[in-house]
Amino acid sequence: MHSTRKAIAECMPEIDVTIEMLDARLPGSSANPMLKALTGHKPALKILNKADLADPLQTEAWLAHYRSLAQTQAIALDAGERAPMGPIKRAVQALAPHRGSLGGTLSKPLRVLIGGIPNVGKSTLINTLTGKRAAKTGDEAGVTRLIQRIVLEDGFYLFDSPGVLWPKIELEQSGYNLAATGAIGKNAYEDIDVALQTLAYLKTHYPATLVVRYRIGVLAKEIPQTSDEDLLDAVGRKRAALRAGNRVDVQKAAEIVIHDLRSGALGRVTLETVPEYASWQQTALATAELAEKVKLARKATKRSPKC
Ligand code: G4P
Repeated sequence: MHSTRKAIAECMPEIDVTIEMLDARLPGSSANPMLKALTGHKPALKILNKADLADPLQTEAWLAHYRSLAQTQAIALDAGERAPMGPIKRAVQALAPHRGSLGGTLSKPLRVLIGGIPNVGKSTLINTLTGKRAAKTGDEAGVTRLIQRIVLEDGFYLFDSPGVLWPKIELEQSGYNLAATGAIGKNAYEDIDVALQTLAYLKTHYPATLVVRYRIGVLAKEIPQTSDEDLLDAVGRKRAALRAGNRVDVQKAAEIVIHDLRSGALGRVTLETVPEYASWQQTALATAELAEKVKLARKATKRSPKC
């Protein structure tokens, strides 16, 4: 992570626009805070990738949110898009109109840095952008070998860092969402906790999806009143995840829920809305401030003379 940070920092003076790839199902949680800190002063294109798996209405809301930010453009994409170059190039050129090969002038190439947390679909997109031909790479002044320069077309260069940009899990809900979508390693979480959290979210936001997929509950309106544990139990029974004595194999039921979410079998769902993510951030901030106040108060008590 340190070498990736250093490489990106060294590369930034050469960059006109940054592209941050986000997972459209969890745009807030799938952002990498280090990337934001290093590139925050440059115009940015947010690509909400895997949009085929996300709720289209929420994707529109997230796009509107990002587009309302200064120097920021946003587009939704998925691997099914055969010609992603068009929308990407248009958005990037809008952010840096003074660069690029417009009118055939090649003197000011458009230089774009791309980044994103693992599994967000960056390699897939780069492969589509470069086509079957091997990506042309080359040395660039001030750019370390860790950053690969890919010539997408004359006057349009993509800088890619093969280093890993892990998400920083500052919010509890982000951790669950990253785990549910497979963005963090399996050893970092318990399937059952993640499945319960996912069901808790789905039962209030997408109850019909649970009725359709698992045929549990007669009506979607009954689902929100059912406890998360009972829902997981019902999934296990419906999908024959059973142990001896007809008891539900909770681990197996949890794996089924997680698999169905990741594969899209549960339909197109988004695990966080713009206001929800903002409120999680506010709560985390308020908690951190309170903890700091308590710490300071404790220190002051220790220092005050005893009678
Ligand atoms: P990364 O470089 O950012 O780490 O991600 P990568 O492109 O390797 O993609 C990670 C997984 O996400 C791959 O699946 C890939 O096929 C899938 N993926 C990428 N873009 C999209 C998209 O727009 N929509 C959907 N639904 N999936 C996408 P995998 O199962 O890990 O590998 P594979 O079996 O597809 O090779």
